[in-house]
Amino acid sequence: MSWFTKTLTSSIGRKLMMALTGLFLITFLIIHASGNLQLLANDGGKAFNMYTKFMTTSPIIKTVSYILYASIIIHVIWAIMLTRLNQTARPAGYEYDKLGQSSSWASRSMMLLGTIILIFIVIHMKTFWFVYKFGSIDMVSYDGEEYKDLYSVVVDAFKNPLYTGFYVVSMVFLAFHLAHGFWSGFQTLGLNHKKYTPLIKTVGLIIAIVIPIVFAIQPVYVYLFA
Ligand code: HEM
Repeated sequence: MSWFTKTLTSSIGRKLMMALTGLFLITFLIIHASGNLQLLANDGGKAFNMYTKFMTTSPIIKTVSYILYASIIIHVIWAIMLTRLNQTARPAGYEYDKLGQSSSWASRSMMLLGTIILIFIVIHMKTFWFVYKFGSIDMVSYDGEEYKDLYSVVVDAFKNPLYTGFYVVSMVFLAFHLAHGFWSGFQTLGLNHKKYTPLIKTVGLIIAIVIPIVFAIQPVYVYLFA
């Protein structure tokens, strides 16, 4: 076994992979949440459709997308492997974990939260990503150029109160997952410093609150005003 394979399959290597893919996924979420704000442009979908065309055709962003899909898969598989490893090493769990005195509810529920987010991602990709890539979708023309009308697909989906409700509730779970994940990722990477740790924790908390709110605003806005 090479040192590379050994490192990746060791306990710390697995944690490292979780941290690196997790932090990359958070970067994606920040870009995805801000980019999708075009939905609120109140222009019949022009800005949003132009933005999605750019995001799905630019060769650099296409390459990043493949890294994104791989990161989601690795993050999920490694999470399952680490959980199993921890259960074998410590089947009953720590007494203080049960009391929740030294660990937050979010930190003890990362697997449950992650599973809910994974279900969200599968449903989300089926509704938008799959339809955009493989479904039949209307075309619109702006300034003589043709665009897929993904905006109408998004509006149709969010006009359903159940679907919008599902998004808003899922964002609460995302908030808790991010609240622990951001700080934990940096800790795994070795950042444990008297001066910087409180800063990382604060930035993590801000991200965990702002990103899910920005995401949740979008379906609610479309439901109410589009
Ligand atoms: C609630 C607001 C959201 C809206 C309106 C939205 C909208 C979209 C749309 C329209 C697409 C397909 C077009 C594209 O590939 O760029 C997409 C793709 C995607 N979304 Fe979202 N999204 C939201 C939230 C989320 C959240 C919270 C996550 C993850 C937890 C997520 C993960 C993804 C992923 C992984 C893709 C595939 C990206 C790619 O192919 O590069 N989205 N989203």
